[in-house]
Amino acid sequence: MTDKPRDTKGRRQLVKFSFYRMDHGWRALPENERERGRRAVADVVRAFSDRLQIRSYSLVGTRGDTDFLLWQIGDRLEDIQQLAGFINGTAMGPYLTMPYSYLAMTRPSLYVSREEARAERMQLHPGDSKYLFVYPFVKTREWYQLPLGERQSMMDEHIRIGRKYPSVKLNTTYSFGLDDQEFVVSFETDEPADFLDLVMELREAKTSLYTLRDTPIFSCVAMGLEDTLDSLAGTGERRNAPETEAAWQKVGEVSDSPPGSSRVVYYAGDQVAIFNVGGDFYAVSNRCPHANGLLAEGVIEAGFVICPSHGSRFDLASGRPLEGPAARPLRTYSVRVEQNGVLLGRPRAEPQPT
Ligand code: FES
Repeated sequence: MTDKPRDTKGRRQLVKFSFYRMDHGWRALPENERERGRRAVADVVRAFSDRLQIRSYSLVGTRGDTDFLLWQIGDRLEDIQQLAGFINGTAMGPYLTMPYSYLAMTRPSLYVSREEARAERMQLHPGDSKYLFVYPFVKTREWYQLPLGERQSMMDEHIRIGRKYPSVKLNTTYSFGLDDQEFVVSFETDEPADFLDLVMELREAKTSLYTLRDTPIFSCVAMGLEDTLDSLAGTGERRNAPETEAAWQKVGEVSDSPPGSSRVVYYAGDQVAIFNVGGDFYAVSNRCPHANGLLAEGVIEAGFVICPSHGSRFDLASGRPLEGPAARPLRTYSVRVEQNGVLLGRPRAEPQPT
């Protein structure tokens, strides 16, 4: 039995996981040449931020055969293809290969009946978790021959187990006919131990009998793009380098952000909340480091933002958490106003927790 998506109003998204590997020769280059390559890739990613959500992750030290991931979400295959071509054309391009590449789309789950939950599956909203675990997934053909009711009851057990681990957010995307696997699953979390326990428990679920393949598994560490590219050679020198003009990106007009307002923009793949507090602009990661609350929807008080989810209070200038359950600081960004335009610069170094 096939199940056509019932919600045709919600737009389905294309999702691409591009795992890049860096040639060893890259590390032998002089720092200024590596810097030129990193900046070129960052500029390309920034240029696509109006068409694609792009999140970057380092795998340096977590796998031997790939170094970083660009997770891309958008509406058009052409944008995904062009991004890859433009990256290949940078000074870093000759040193890059893509040993793993997974293409997928969003769609409602066959096993979730609540209309609201089905609609939510059409659009991915990556959070700001520290880690992402990704793997391609193929079920046995026997699975698809089982009566729907039998599959549903096994999936109910699977879903029940997943709900025991609220710190792990699952994104299921579908690759049937688009790529070699049937699904690409990605799990966002701050707690790798919870993810490990979840996967172990799922092995005992009946659905596990019908898994044909669920490897390779990628353990990815979330970083801003420039930090991700820095992690390839471990220099860290550039993080303290002065801001260059190329790093600044116009993200709107001053009139888009009247005093007291907030809005969401994208910078090199990061989702950023911009606040105008009495004419002073602040830019911070839109996702609360506690549990991904949307800070652009928070309450603003002179120089502070209060997370709408559980009330953590952050200093907008430094990103420091001052009250509430959040323990980690918010990522902050340089921001400036020029000729009535609002410009964002690179993420600042994270303040140490006090
Ligand atoms: S998500 Fe922000 S305080 Fe919990």
